[in-house]
Amino acid sequence: MKAIRFDKYGGIDVLYVADVPTPEPAAGEALIRAKAAGINPGEAKIREGFFHSAWPATFPSGEGSDFAGTVAKLGPGVSQFAAGDPVIGFSDKRASQAEYVVAEAQNLTRKPANVSWEVAGSLPIAGTTAYACVHAVALKAGDTVAVSGAAGGVGSLAVQLAKRTGAKVIGIASLSKHDWLVTHGVEPVVYGNGLAGALRKYQISAFIDTHGGGYVKLATELGVPRDRINTIIDFPAAKEYGVKSEGSQAAKTAAVLAEIAGLVASGDLDVPIAATFPLDQVRDAYKLLEQGHTFGKIVLVP
Ligand SMILES: NC(=O)c1ccc[n+]([C@@H]2O[C@H](COP(=O)([O-])OP(=O)(O)OC[C@H]3O[C@@H](n4cnc5c(N)ncnc54)[C@H](OP(=O)(O)O)[C@@H]3O)[C@@H](O)[C@H]2O)c1
Repeated sequence: MKAIRFDKYGGIDVLYVADVPTPEPAAGEALIRAKAAGINPGEAKIREGFFHSAWPATFPSGEGSDFAGTVAKLGPGVSQFAAGDPVIGFSDKRASQAEYVVAEAQNLTRKPANVSWEVAGSLPIAGTTAYACVHAVALKAGDTVAVSGAAGGVGSLAVQLAKRTGAKVIGIASLSKHDWLVTHGVEPVVYGNGLAGALRKYQISAFIDTHGGGYVKLATELGVPRDRINTIIDFPAAKEYGVKSEGSQAAKTAAVLAEIAGLVASGDLDVPIAATFPLDQVRDAYKLLEQGHTFGKIVLVP
């Protein structure tokens, strides 16, 4: 089968498509024929070696957590799925960007029929992270929450999940994203000079930071209580200011994934797809992602 590999840390040029043996599912696992695999900035950071001390790569390394596809084969002891079932899931072994993926059956949920493969394959990391963010800051009706990176992979889902709590949602994003935010009931604010002044016009009671680069400090200066600030990227600031840093690890379960997929199926959650790429254009996919202005999700279609 074809699978993405890299043999050393580096830029997008270290990525290549390898021919490798199709993996076999062990007890408790399933083999999935992947139809879509969302890509995430964290994978680029791992590939570049930025996370070497916390999450080192071993070479040759595969890549990717997210996938959606059909069950091809079941390992011993798996009875909750059958061959051919459409599923959404995540791999904890950096292995989803391939024609076939082995995953633990407990990390799978059924794909609703009316959710496209591309959207389904985008949900695991971005969806569970957005869910974790909204829960971390304990939103309720009457709150006003600001979200940085409001139309990115995580942000676009976080603003919609935040809206569902009854909170007023302020989305910090570039101008090109404002129409989409307004359509989804979010008040857009552009970043850059004047942002702090624009945010001071609101009584902001919670802050979700999906961008980093000073938003945690800004949130504290705006008077947001520290236990109602969550960043998924600025870990040094989380430590310095004593704010939360709950990400995918706080919510990455099949149950949460099923809940999110259900919201998509019922038309209550919109997942913008910025672009899709075949596996052999993986470098182009990450080149686009690493420009840092993605609208929704970028997806590989093996
Ligand atoms: N801790 C975890 O578990 C976890 C999980 C997933 C992701 N993450 C991290 O969270 C971050 C976001 O992930 P993602 O998948 O949402 O990324 P993404 O899809 O690339 O989205 C990033 C968004 O930030 C916006 N942006 C760029 N500059 C900005 C600025 N100065 N102020 C506000 N927004 C700005 C971009 O669009 P515009 O500039 O056009 O507005 C883009 O929509 C990444 O660093 C990722 O590694 C962490």
